[in-house]
Amino acid sequence: MLKPEPDVAPPATADPQFRADVLAGLARRPRAIPARWFYDHRGSELFEAITALPEYYPARAETAILRRIGPDLAALTGEGCAVVEFGSGSSTKTPLVLAAVAPRAYVPIDISGAFLRESARSLAAAFPQLPVIPLEADFTAPLTLPAAVAAAPKLGFFPGSTIGNLAPAAAVDLLRAMRTSLGADDQRGAQLLIGMDRIKDAETLIAAYEDAAGVTAAFNLNLLARINRELAGTVPLDAFQHEARWNDSAARIEMHLMATRAVSFVVAGLPFTFAEGESIHTENSHKYGARDARLLLRAGGWTPVREWLDDEGRFAVILAEALPPEPAP
Ligand code: AVI
Repeated sequence: MLKPEPDVAPPATADPQFRADVLAGLARRPRAIPARWFYDHRGSELFEAITALPEYYPARAETAILRRIGPDLAALTGEGCAVVEFGSGSSTKTPLVLAAVAPRAYVPIDISGAFLRESARSLAAAFPQLPVIPLEADFTAPLTLPAAVAAAPKLGFFPGSTIGNLAPAAAVDLLRAMRTSLGADDQRGAQLLIGMDRIKDAETLIAAYEDAAGVTAAFNLNLLARINRELAGTVPLDAFQHEARWNDSAARIEMHLMATRAVSFVVAGLPFTFAEGESIHTENSHKYGARDARLLLRAGGWTPVREWLDDEGRFAVILAEALPPEPAP
């Protein structure tokens, strides 16, 4: 007997993990889809546009700090370390660190090979003497660095307050994985330069995630467009609205896609129904006070050495060191 053809075949390119996360996330209560799925090609373009928005202060604040701290950073890291960036590397921030510390090699690590190769190429062009060794890998688990940097002391670089997109327990796990990946317990030691956004007034925070031009809204809604495209979805985009909420007790901005009317749709052949006002939680962006940030780093196995703020105290860049654990009294 012939099997009936499904109405719409899901595209062959759909990532099975994307499918699993979306279907599980739409089925659970409260509904939530991991923020990592924002970053398809369009999502990455929109994120780039976000970093240039007048309301999105973190990118500018962190760049201003990195521009200012070069000599201090060089004095604290010493010469000849290998810079290991957790992420593809930004065309503005990474060159500031590389120019400051004059490393012996640069290792950007990213799970997305295409972005990684593109940014590695442009950094290699800007620093022709510097060995650039891109590593396509998932840095959320401990990994082995290229043999070429095994003997060098390591400086991990994790800018952008990306740590804030993780819940505190997951952030601690990541910091510990970074510690292991950087070989913190071997003779050469390791340091970590990390950007962390500070807690501030809710108005400034919400404006940063709900900009007047609607770029963040487009970034959030692009997740639904991606679901429609890659998972044969029929989600009516006009039935959902972007919302940024400040959750004070969890000290985080939450992004939601809120149904503005009752709506039903299909994803990968499965039906879903939303009541008006129900939302999909799509992102957390945790903010850290000075002591919170230090405590998080210590919990992750890193001892803060020095921290720098932008002129308005909105954003912190912290240098931390992987020291052996102190004996408990
Ligand atoms: C990548 N990450 C640190 C950004 C943030 O601020 O949490 C992602 C973002 N979401 C909306 N705007 C920016």
